[in-house]
Order: sequence, then C-alpha cells, then structure tokens
Amino acid sequence: MKIIAVSGSPRNKATQYVAQKALDSIKEKYPEMETQLISLKGKKVEPCNACDYCKRKKDWCIMKDEGNSLIQDIVTADGLLLLSPVYVMEPTPQLMALFSRMRPLHHVYQDVTRHMLGASIAIGGTRNGGQEIAVNTMNNLLLSRGINVVANEVFGYHGGKVWSKDQGAEGAEADEIGMKTAIQVALKLAEMVELVARK
Ligand SMILES: Cc1cc2nc3c(=O)[nH]c(=O)nc-3n(C[C@H](O)[C@H](O)[C@H](O)COP(=O)(O)O)c2cc1C
Repeated sequence: MKIIAVSGSPRNKATQYVAQKALDSIKEKYPEMETQLISLKGKKVEPCNACDYCKRKKDWCIMKDEGNSLIQDIVTADGLLLLSPVYVMEPTPQLMALFSRMRPLHHVYQDVTRHMLGASIAIGGTRNGGQEIAVNTMNNLLLSRGINVVANEVFGYHGGKVWSKDQGAEGAEADEIGMKTAIQVALKLAEMVELVARK
C-alpha cells in the first residue's frame, strides 16, 4: 500500500509543510503504509498542447520534459493526496499542467487508475481565498483521470482547507482548524486505501 502526496507549489513552504505533516500522520497511524512526497518545485512540465500523439500512437506523451516520469511515478500509488497553494482562487498552473499531461491515462492506459483513491488539500494566503474552489477543482482533476475521490470526515466536507496567511510553514501550522481538516482527510484516504487493499 502506497500513498503519494503531490505538492503543486513551485516552492517548499506552506504546502510542503502540510504535505509532510499529512504523510507523517498517515505513517504514525498506518506504519505499514509506504509514503512519498513529490514536489513540483523546479520540475519542468509543459501543459498538453493537444498534438494528439498519445491518442493516435497509443503511447505516452511525446514531449521531452519531466511530465511522463512524474506521471508514471504517481500512478504507482494506491492513494494520491493532491495539495496546492491557491493561485487566483484555483490550484496552481503547475498542477493543472501536470494533469493536462495525463491524457494518455484517458486514451491509452484506462485501467491504470481504476482502483486508485484520491483526496485534496488547498492552502491559501487569505482566510477565504478560494480554498474550497481549489479543492473542488483538484477533486475534479482526480475524477477526470479516473481516480476515486474520498470524502473528509463529517464537518470536514470535501477536503483540507488551510489558511497560511502567506507565512509559509509557520502560518499553516498556526491554523489549527485548517490543519485538522487536512490531517483528517489524509487519514481518511489512508483508511480507504487499507480497506480496498484488504478486498
Ligand atoms: C500568483 C499567486 C496567486 C495567489 N492567489 C491567491 C488566492 O487567490 N487566494 C489566496 O487565498 N491566496 C493566494 N495566494 C497566496 C498563496 O496561496 C499562499 O501564500 C500559499 O500559502 C502559498 O503556498 P506555498 O507557501 O506552499 O507556496 C496567491 C499567491 C500567488 C503567488
């Protein structure tokens, strides 16, 4: 059983902190779970340019950047935890570009994500700066690639929503309520991964 957290931030600050905390919480409760953190910081991933190569040739993307290898790593997970800073009330363009490049999963390798589970956490600089919208979009990114979305606990609704006050890790850490929603959904994801693995 493996859970991969993908941080869509171009830096290692608040989102990286929340991702690591979420994975640490999973590891504490489910020591047998393998965990991995993938940061998009410094990664070169162009958005899909609709050349249709994957669709025509039934192959991975022809673009020569880090997209293919990142995607092939990500689909080794049983559970995918998506995390992103809120940029203009949405996830980052870096994360959106990566998901646009997953078109081969749609046209060629449909079964790869069939039993994967996923959940989302958004970190915004403003108290209500679009975290809920960004979580919705990330959940839709998961759904668009055939990944089954896991709900948060009651009162957590649909994902983790953290307020960093633009203060990096310290800001995120200070948002106790937001961090609780993030840890809760991460643990729920791990619980569901374990449940599916036992079947
Ligand atoms: C280009 C850009 C757009 C942003 N847009 C929003 C926004 O719409 N809402 C919000 O709450 N915060 C916004 N922020 C603030 C970040 O979401 C916030 O600082 C977050 O903690 C950054 O995550 P990081 O520290 O992991 O990079 C924006 C930041 C940048 C750089």
